[in-house]
Amino acid sequence: MTKVLIVFYSRNGSTEALANAVAEGARRQGAEVRLRRAREVAPPEVIASVPGWAEAAGAMNDRFEAPTEADAEWADAIVFGTPTRFGSIASELKAYIDSLGGLWFQGKLNGKAGSVFCSTSSKHGGNEATLLSIYAPMAHLGLIIVPLGYADPAMFKAGTPYGATHVSALDTLKPDEEHLAVAEFQGRRVAEVARALIENRSQQAEAAE
Ligand SMILES: Cc1cc2nc3c(=O)[nH]c(=O)nc-3n(C[C@H](O)[C@H](O)[C@H](O)COP(=O)(O)O)c2cc1C
Repeated sequence: MTKVLIVFYSRNGSTEALANAVAEGARRQGAEVRLRRAREVAPPEVIASVPGWAEAAGAMNDRFEAPTEADAEWADAIVFGTPTRFGSIASELKAYIDSLGGLWFQGKLNGKAGSVFCSTSSKHGGNEATLLSIYAPMAHLGLIIVPLGYADPAMFKAGTPYGATHVSALDTLKPDEEHLAVAEFQGRRVAEVARALIENRSQQAEAAE
């Protein structure tokens, strides 16, 4: 079974909804999925000063385990999800990526599939910039980056060629069916590419024997 790790940060649930749709797509493709939520890194007094933050984080943490180094090693594909933070990755997810230095040093992430999805508040608030900003760490980690292109009818209605997206309008909207369909396609596509990479490696190993 292809193993897909979906690791995301979400504070208000939009990125969480995309993550669940990516998981559904990967499972439809026959993959085993681990869904993990990166934990808070802001100081407790900052979290306490924002109404609802601690409660929302607590509820999501009950639903999803924290990501570990072992999860990344286990996976054949790693899909990152983040709300935008000033046009770039949330520090909570970046902290997880930065914890993968040991695996990177050992070359253990080389050749796994990688992909990314994102949520912003406003229409031109940085979805594509955020997705592309995560292409850089994915390249450094040695992941084979899986974009979406326009390779599914869903792509002509929502999303971006770089990854699934959502515009939450100050957190008043959750992803609609068209945006969830893009995320579902992302899960299917990542699982399909990861499986092809595994098959290719095992064919090469057989040929070398
Ligand atoms: C510190 C901070 C910076 C943000 N920067 C942006 C931004 O640059 N552009 C934007 O459209 N939304 C920005 N947002 C809003 C979130 O990215 C947006 O509400 C997102 O949909 C939340 O996703 P979630 O429901 O998964 O937490 C920012 C939010 C915070 C707290």
